[in-house]
Order: sequence, then structure tokens, then C-alpha cells
Amino acid sequence: MKTRLFWLATLVLACILSTGCEPSQLGESPDADASSPAEEKIRLGFLVKMPEELWFQNEWRFAQQCADKYGFGLIKVGTPDGEKLLSAIDVLAAKGAQGFVVCTPDVRLGPAVMAKARSHGMKVFTVDDQFVGADGEFMTVPHMGISAREIGRQVGRELYKEFVNRGWLTEETGALGVTFDELDTARDRTDGTIEALVEAGFARERIYLGAEKTTDIPGAFDAANIVLTQHPEVERWFVFSMNDEGVLGSVRALEGRGFSAANTIGIGIGAGTGLTEFEKDEPTGYFATCMISPLRHGYETTELLYKWVKDGVEPPADTRTAGVMAYRHDYKEVQKKLGLE
Ligand code: GLA
Repeated sequence: MKTRLFWLATLVLACILSTGCEPSQLGESPDADASSPAEEKIRLGFLVKMPEELWFQNEWRFAQQCADKYGFGLIKVGTPDGEKLLSAIDVLAAKGAQGFVVCTPDVRLGPAVMAKARSHGMKVFTVDDQFVGADGEFMTVPHMGISAREIGRQVGRELYKEFVNRGWLTEETGALGVTFDELDTARDRTDGTIEALVEAGFARERIYLGAEKTTDIPGAFDAANIVLTQHPEVERWFVFSMNDEGVLGSVRALEGRGFSAANTIGIGIGAGTGLTEFEKDEPTGYFATCMISPLRHGYETTELLYKWVKDGVEPPADTRTAGVMAYRHDYKEVQKKLGLE
């Protein structure tokens, strides 16, 4: 009896010790350690700056598919600020992770993140937002991001095409651009749109920019409202931004001032958040979106990191992914092509 009690107590203690930090504290998936023998198991982290954003949830979903395929452990953590990011890296190390994919909340954290990762001997792969060093240059850390300028240009060309289709007049039309210039991938996108609009023949002086404080719907809503208050004379609007959230926040601000699908052409960049607009019975000012691939950004980054850790295969230094335009009438097909249904 005594022996049995002893073993029971030992088992309970072992369970408590191996659990360590509660997964729920980290936003870690409960099935993080689902398969493979524990001793030789590879564990990787996937850290994202805005876990509430659909884009990042989708990256996690596809990263998990990769982990399930290869049978390694994936620890997913939401890291909305520098303190959380740095302490998450310590937690990952304590849990035996050999590396992580990260979309940092601030690109200037690059040197601090790399120093911490190095101190634990961990490999780092950045996704979406590229680390910037103390010298203001991009750091040489394997990276996958979107072809930001080209995708922005695509948005500009499509806006102009629809402007011509609708026969709008330049003197009645304004372009509302919600910007976030402190982030390179964001600035490249909106700069690309401006560039393409001007190249197509739209008047530069009719492009009105509003800087958002946060890259979500409320951030864009506030930025758009300031621009709209300054330009009550504009009768028809183009809307563009760095992501779907930026365009949706602006479209909602326009709706609050009586603008609808008939006098708004909004084109987003994303892979989910804006698509619910197409499911509504009536069209809204959210006209189209340039669909980017959370499958590549979630699955491929994780796979490259896994092979780096497991087989020592160095990932490519910089991978850029393309976008595909999607409209109300064809977004389901585009979703299917991108493996997003
Ligand atoms: C940034 C944005 C996200 C998404 C990704 C795509 O991180 O904040 O909304 O657009 O880029 O790479």
C-alpha cells in the first residue's frame, strides 16, 4: 500500500513539474506536444504581435498543420509588446524549444530578440515584419514577407481601373489612404498604391493621408475620420491602407457620413478580415482585396525553421510572397486556390 502511495505521489509530482508554466498563460495551443517521443522531440515557437487579428490566427493554424505533419511540438504565443516577447523567449527556452518564428510587435526589438535567442542557442525566423538593427538597416535574419510595394501598386491599379469603369470625375473624387509609416512593410504598401495611382493619371493633390496609431479597425476608423472632417467637399472616395483592417475602419467611418458602395471604392490587403463584407447581402464600400497567403507565411516559415533545426538546412535569406486580387463575385475561388477555405 505504502509503495503504491509513493508511486502515486511521484507521478503527481512529475506531472506538476513537467507542466511548468500553464499553457493558457501563454496562449499556447493545448495540443502543442501532441506526438513523438518526448526525449528527442523538436519544439518550435510561433510568436505573433497581434493574436486577435485573423491574419495571425491563420498563420498559427497553418503552422500547426506543419507541426502535425512532421510531429514536432509547436508553442504559439501572443506577444503584443517587447516585454512579453522577451519573456516568451525565456519560456520557450525553458520548455526546450530550439527556435521560433516571430512577427515582432516592434521591428526595432530585433537586436534584443537576437541577443536573447543567441543566449539560449535558438534559431530565429522572422515573418511579416522584418527586424531593423541599431543602424536602421534590415538585419540579416531569415525572413518571409509580402512583396509589399508590388502588392500596394496592384491595389492602386485596381482602384484606378474601377474609377474609370464607374466614369467618376477627378474633381469629385478623393483618395483616402490610412498609413502606418513607422513599419516598412506598411509604408511600402501605401507608397506603392500612391505611386500606381499617380502613374495611372490620378491627381497627387487629391490623395489625402491619415496616419493610424494602431493597425486595426479602431485605429483606421480614427485616422479616417480626421481626414474626412478635413475634406467635406469630396463626393466620392477611394480607400486604401496597409491591410484589410485599415480599409474596413475607413469604410465604417465613411458609412457614418452617409457614403456607401455607390460612392466608395475600398481595396484591402489580407486574407480573411474583409471577406465577411462579401458575405453581406448588400455590397459595401469594401470593393475588393488583394489576397495574401497565411498558408505560406504560417506553414512554410515553420517548415523551413524545422528543417534548419533538424537537418541544419539554412533557410533562404529573404522570401517574398505575391498577392491575388479577389472580388465579391470570385473570392471563394481565390480562397480555394490559396488553400484557405
Ligand atoms: C503585417 C500586418 C498584418 C499583415 C502582415 C502580412 O504584419 O500588420 O496585418 O498584413 O503584415 O505580412
